[in-house]
Amino acid sequence: MKTHRIAVVGCGAFARMVHLPNIQANPRAELVMTCDQDHGLAEESRATFGARRASGDWREVVAADDVDVIVLATHTNLRRDLILPALAAGKPVLVEKPLANSQEEMIEIVREVRRTGVPVCVGHNRRSSPGVLDLKRLLDKAIQEGGTLVPAVDRSAGGRRTELPEERQIQLLIRVNDDCRSWVDWIYWDREGILFAEMVHFIDVALWLNPSPPVRVFAEGSARGNFTLLIRFQDGSLTTIQQGLAGHFDYPKELFEVTTRHVTLALDHHVELRQRGLADEPFRRVYPFGPIPDGQSGEGIEGFHQAVTRAREAAALRGGPPAYISPDKGHAAHLDGFLDCVEGRGRNPCDVADAVVVTRIALKLLDAIRLGMPLAVGPEDWHIPAG
Ligand SMILES: NC(=O)c1ccc[n+]([C@@H]2O[C@H](COP(=O)([O-])OP(=O)(O)OC[C@H]3O[C@@H](n4cnc5c(N)ncnc54)[C@H](O)[C@@H]3O)[C@@H](O)[C@H]2O)c1
Repeated sequence: MKTHRIAVVGCGAFARMVHLPNIQANPRAELVMTCDQDHGLAEESRATFGARRASGDWREVVAADDVDVIVLATHTNLRRDLILPALAAGKPVLVEKPLANSQEEMIEIVREVRRTGVPVCVGHNRRSSPGVLDLKRLLDKAIQEGGTLVPAVDRSAGGRRTELPEERQIQLLIRVNDDCRSWVDWIYWDREGILFAEMVHFIDVALWLNPSPPVRVFAEGSARGNFTLLIRFQDGSLTTIQQGLAGHFDYPKELFEVTTRHVTLALDHHVELRQRGLADEPFRRVYPFGPIPDGQSGEGIEGFHQAVTRAREAAALRGGPPAYISPDKGHAAHLDGFLDCVEGRGRNPCDVADAVVVTRIALKLLDAIRLGMPLAVGPEDWHIPAG
């Protein structure tokens, strides 16, 4: 088994909560360097996660002979400047989303990936969530085969009535129940905040699930949160992304509900996938979450609610905040998949070209919400020419 010597640049909240523990737990990875412009934070992260050394300057990471792979977890303030020399030095980069906030910067990164042949993976990790992977597999099956079960109420002569074109469209609802008290001051950065920096996850899932290209976007609400985004696809399919910032953190955050060809699929917070319409698939699949409180035995969405209640009860006795019960949103698998790709034995979990399209659509939605009008999307947005 190959060991990948990894450096993390940007040891902020997300790196310390997700990337650094995941690298520490991955037997294929060795944490060589922690780097942050706040040297104290780099040093603290080194000590906590057992890196060999810490640095306050990302240039030392790019130049280091004993670093094979870089995880870049700063905001978009540091992207091209690090990625271009890293690729020239033969170091693959897993970069957090969003890839960048300008077209020029994204294209420069794509060109350098192509020139060097060194991969960049973007942290659109929902695609690596076990629940989202099953959702895509079942949706692909529904698109190909359609549902076979005649409904309890049937006025279509057993499904023999002429099919409407709309019956083949994909209606996808992504509901994001957020609690802005869980965010740091990003919430106020409307040019960089939730609509742009967070919604790329869900725009990515929408584009990944829909075989047809997007043709129009519309957005209504506040760009800081409490908005609805609409993406229309060429075949008439619609994706609605509904975000609320004044929800409660205890309640499940992400619900993906999709219908096509008389199949209904619902992925509830990455812990439970339900389906009706596919006769040979189970009604319910469940996925792990953690940490599991003492005495907890339930699974799926009901188990998740029980775990949150138990965590709150334990906190009331102990004092302090309850444990954060987290579903598997695919972060660890995304990194692992990228290491496979670096070794040449798997596809990139989120190639940079896919991320460019997602980021362009996010920027367009930001324009749409500001202008208060729908905006056209064309091949110039979703097609990236060779060369
Ligand atoms: N994939 C996900 O699910 C997910 C979730 C949350 C955040 N993120 C992404 O992770 C990134 C970081 O988010 P965060 O919440 O940890 O932010 P944060 O502000 O807590 O951390 C960013 C860190 O980067 C450091 N930094 C900034 N510029 C630097 C430079 N030039 N050199 C070295 N260090 C530098 C800062 O000092 C800070 O410690 C963002 O791009 C965000 O979108 C991804």
